[in-house]
Amino acid sequence: MAEIKSVGVVGAGQMGAGIAQVLATAGHRTLLFDASAPALEKGLAGIHSRLGQAVEKGKMDAATSERAKQHLSAAGSLRDFASCDLIIEAIIEQFEPKAALFREVDKILRPDAILASNTSSISITRMAAVTSRPDKFLGVHFMNPVPVMQLVELIRGLQTSDDTYKAILALCASIKKTTVLALDGPGFIVNRILCPMINEAIFLVQEGVAPTDIDNAMKLGTNHPMGPLTLADFVGLDTLLYILQLLHRELGEDKYRPCPLLVKYVEAGWHGKKSGRGFYSY
Ligand code: CAA
Repeated sequence: MAEIKSVGVVGAGQMGAGIAQVLATAGHRTLLFDASAPALEKGLAGIHSRLGQAVEKGKMDAATSERAKQHLSAAGSLRDFASCDLIIEAIIEQFEPKAALFREVDKILRPDAILASNTSSISITRMAAVTSRPDKFLGVHFMNPVPVMQLVELIRGLQTSDDTYKAILALCASIKKTTVLALDGPGFIVNRILCPMINEAIFLVQEGVAPTDIDNAMKLGTNHPMGPLTLADFVGLDTLLYILQLLHRELGEDKYRPCPLLVKYVEAGWHGKKSGRGFYSY
C-alpha cells in the first residue's frame, strides 16, 4: 500500500462519525456506512453540524469545512467500499458481529487494502485470523470525542506487517493524531489504566462519598478535565462494565473486580449520559 487515500468507516455512532469527520477534514475520501439507515443519517447530520459549529466559532475556515463535506459520503452498502484503501470498523463491541463484518469486507476489498478495528478491548490477532489478510490487519483505537482527543492507540496483531503499520502511522500523521503502540492485550494502555481508576471512584461512591466531591477532587487536585464519574457517564457505564469484566476475566486479578454499585446501575439501565441517568442526571 503506497498511501491511504480513501477510507471506509463502518458504524456511524459517536466513534465512527468522529473518525469519518477527522478523515474527511484532512482531505481523505471518506465513505461512512451503518447497517441502520437512521443511525447513518444521524451520524452524517452530527458531522455537518460540528463542521458548521467549528466555522461559526472561527476554529475552521469555510473552505476547509466545505472540502470536508465534499470528501464525505454515505455508503449504500458494503460493496461501495470496493475501491477503498482502508476500512475502519467502529461497530458494536462484540467479537461475532465484528468478525462477520470483517469476513464480508475481506471478500469485497482489493487484496492490498488494509482492515482496521477501533475496538477498545477485543484481541486484534483473533479478529485478524478470520480474514485472508492477517498481515494487513491492525487495531486503531481512537479516543472519545474523536475530533478533540489527540491520541490514537495502535495495536499490532501477531501477524501485522511492518508495511501495514507504516501505512497507518502515515495516515494518523495526516489527520494530526499522535500515536502510541500498545500490546494486543486487554484494555491496551488507556483503558487498562483508566477503567480501574474510575472503578475505584465508584467504590468510594458505594462507601458514601458524594460523586461531586470525588469529581472535584480529581479535577482540582490532579487537573483532570473531567472527574472520573462524569467521565464514566460520558464513556457509558455499560461500556465501562464490559471493559472491567474483560480485564478481570483475562488478567485474573481481584484488583479489576467491577464495583457492585456499577453492576447495579447497569442492571437498572442507568448507562450514563446516553440514557439520561448515571452518576448524574442529564
Ligand atoms: N465532539 C466533538 N467536539 C466536541 C465534543 C464532541 N462530542 N465534545 C466537546 N467538543 C469540543 C467542543 O466543541 C470544544 O471545542 P472548541 O474548543 O473548538 O470550542 C472543545 O471540545 C471543548 O469542549 P467544551 O468547552 O464544551 O468542554 P470541555 O472544555 O469540558 O471539554 C472534553 C470537553 C474535551 C470532552 C474534556 O472534558 C475532556 O477532555 N474530557 C476527557 C475526555 C476523555 O478522557 N476521553 C477519553 C475517554 S476514554 C476512551 O475514549 C477510550 C475508551 O475506549 C472508553
